[in-house]
Amino acid sequence: MSHADPLLVFRDRFPITARTNYLINNSLGAMPAAARASVAQFLDAWETRGVRAWGDGWWALQEQVADRIALALGVPAGTVSMHQNVAVAQEMILSCFRCDGRRNKLVYADRNFPSDQYIYEARAAHGARLVRVPPAADGISTDAEQVAAMIDDETLLVAIDHVMFRSSALVDVEPIVQKARQVGAFVVLDTFHSVGVLPLELHRLGVHAAVGGALKWLCGGPGNCFLYVHPDEVRRLQPAFTGWAAHKQPFAFSPAGQDYRDDGGRFATGTPNVPALHSGKAGIEVVLEAGLPAIRQKSQRLTTLLIEAAQRAGLSVRSPLDARRRGGHVALDVPHGYAVCQALSAREIVVDFRPDAGLRVAPHFYNSEDEVLGCVGAIREILDRRAYEPFLQQQKKPG
Ligand SMILES: Cc1ncc(COP(=O)(O)O)c(C=O)c1O
Repeated sequence: MSHADPLLVFRDRFPITARTNYLINNSLGAMPAAARASVAQFLDAWETRGVRAWGDGWWALQEQVADRIALALGVPAGTVSMHQNVAVAQEMILSCFRCDGRRNKLVYADRNFPSDQYIYEARAAHGARLVRVPPAADGISTDAEQVAAMIDDETLLVAIDHVMFRSSALVDVEPIVQKARQVGAFVVLDTFHSVGVLPLELHRLGVHAAVGGALKWLCGGPGNCFLYVHPDEVRRLQPAFTGWAAHKQPFAFSPAGQDYRDDGGRFATGTPNVPALHSGKAGIEVVLEAGLPAIRQKSQRLTTLLIEAAQRAGLSVRSPLDARRRGGHVALDVPHGYAVCQALSAREIVVDFRPDAGLRVAPHFYNSEDEVLGCVGAIREILDRRAYEPFLQQQKKPG
């Protein structure tokens, strides 16, 4: 362990780091060893306690995990609900609004993640007017002032990705929220690429709602996505997308109809995803234990090192060069990017490739400087020796 890098003490808790240069934490964070025990606990309860496991802790787990995520978001406990994915969380918040009135503009950034884009665009069929904000002049970021200028008193919702999934550009949320609040529009922030790698203060910022998930920087595995709603907004929203878990007394199974909860649980749907919650809670805990300010500091140091090494190696960087303006990953636009990514994977160096971005390299708090430099060196060598060629014909598949 390096004395200069106290966060490396956490490395041993993530088994994959023993054999793999794991630099894809903006896609799927490494699994903490503790997740296996937690999932085993779930299976033991199912096997030995059967249906009684709900009362033993399964039902309450969704709120416990949601409250740990609330800490990472910088919002009060009781304001977060858990969901299968961001598409569901976005649909949940959209279901609280009608698009057939005068206030029916949906303002969203051109480069939002598809789950955010498609779901808003689908609302055009229900009367929404779509206002798509083009990328900033640099082609890789979203200009917050430009977004703010497109918000007016006919704007219903503003959907923004906090950190852009291709370039890692960090969007300045403050002017957007300020303008939206002036004119009565509602801001939904996608924090998927910021939660767990940046210290967030969403409550202080005044964001109305936020979506995201624990499978990237929070190391929580698939299925642990969430919706935060500002406490001032909770009671005035009535989601049309709902279920029995959102009822004040779900176990009354009341035929009288929905009686929404007054906290974040108002935005729940049905039976919670208990196995996912068990696999997710350990990672979220380790990230909170390491501390988000320290994680951010290290992330900025490693991504700066990465960019400087990439530039020395003649690789093209498609992320902001100023560490304050980027999230946790760096995009390197190299020739034959997909095949280079496969060649790296064959050497146990794991990054990913996205069209219009290139290779995304994303060190986390358990990675070392040597791993970052080793990745850049390997990319250079693969390009120089044309070691990507055997991978040129491979079919694209997940991962
Ligand atoms: C900004 C952002 N939002 C959402 C998602 C995933 O969406 P979903 O949870 O609907 O699969 C990603 C995935 O990488 C993302 O980068």
